[in-house]
Amino acid sequence: MAKVAVLGYGTVGSGVVEVLDVNAKEVSESAGEKIEVKYILDLRDFPGDKHETQVVHDINIILDDPEIEVICETMGGIEPAFSFEKSALERGKSVCTSNKELVAKCGPELVELAKKNGASFLFEASVGGGIPLLRTINDSMKHEKIDSITGILNGTTNYILTKMDREGMGFATVLKAAQDKGYAEKNPEADVEGYDACRKIAILSSLMSGKHVNYEDIYTEGISRISIEDFDYARALNMSIKLLGICKRGESGYSSIVSPFLIPNENPLANVNGVFNAVNVHGNMLGDVMFYGKGAGKNATASAVVADVIDIIKHRGRHIDVNLKSEELTLSPKDNTVRQFFVRVQEDVRNQAVEVFGSGIEEVKGENVHGEFAFLTGDLSEKDFWERLRKLDSVKGYLRLY
Ligand code: HSE
Repeated sequence: MAKVAVLGYGTVGSGVVEVLDVNAKEVSESAGEKIEVKYILDLRDFPGDKHETQVVHDINIILDDPEIEVICETMGGIEPAFSFEKSALERGKSVCTSNKELVAKCGPELVELAKKNGASFLFEASVGGGIPLLRTINDSMKHEKIDSITGILNGTTNYILTKMDREGMGFATVLKAAQDKGYAEKNPEADVEGYDACRKIAILSSLMSGKHVNYEDIYTEGISRISIEDFDYARALNMSIKLLGICKRGESGYSSIVSPFLIPNENPLANVNGVFNAVNVHGNMLGDVMFYGKGAGKNATASAVVADVIDIIKHRGRHIDVNLKSEELTLSPKDNTVRQFFVRVQEDVRNQAVEVFGSGIEEVKGENVHGEFAFLTGDLSEKDFWERLRKLDSVKGYLRLY
């Protein structure tokens, strides 16, 4: 019998307890022994809850109990989660977590600490929720040279973009409706401005490169500037608009970005809708593999945490190696990346746009948009694109092409 503690009895934490309850038989068959939640750490009490007697308010009860082998940290945020995890690892207790902020910021330090103390630090649920992605990259694909990872990594923004496209409603209206239904946070900034996806692609970039990619180095744009007119043009181009997190390995090193992209409809990522996440990984020998599933939500995310617990129990006494290293990676500057862009200007600056971007541009006509000139550029470096864009008197919008 293995005994674990859950830190934080919120959505994911209560999900972990539920998965261990509901799938107790399957969990025990998979781990080779029963797994029991001995403690649940939370500031609150939960009178009437099936697990109310396991709730404690003092982390030291958990840290001081030699029976506890694994700690599931599902509190989120940097502190006190970091201190709790650090203390647990220092005592040889393994940690698994869904906390992407903490993994992106302090992951390598926690992995090293785990190694030093013969424990493990796993974080499957921090990227792509329930999708078994990190373990596959870290295990089944460990022998591959990964060329690129491209993902729809945030369910909230994918839900908003899907609604805007299908129902022709503006960003603010859809966001409000999503908040009313509980699909979007009251403070939606981390999701809509791309910060959440940025942390996730930082974790993936680190695993891919074997060095630490600082999320603050990743150029990040969110979706708040996307309008229903953009979708009109996307339809004319037979494309979709998706918030993508991308990491690529090129001749000049690794480059990462989070931004809304126009993506051709024949690409499977263009057809990932609603709250779903999807990630394409390209290995040099394997080629493309796609992962698709629920990137958020109580049970899906909790299932990934439980998968980590089982892995740790199955490898008791051994450190499970993950490719998260402390050596910092300097990303290739965004300015060098070459791609096509889509630009919208007011009709009265058409001539200026043609002069600035050259006669090779290709006009795009939106079915329901008037008084604008929209066009696709040829291949340009980001630096070149921005220098040209700044010369225009009135820009109504732009998008990158995938
Ligand atoms: N806010 C995140 C999302 C939750 O919408 O995808 C999962 O990390």
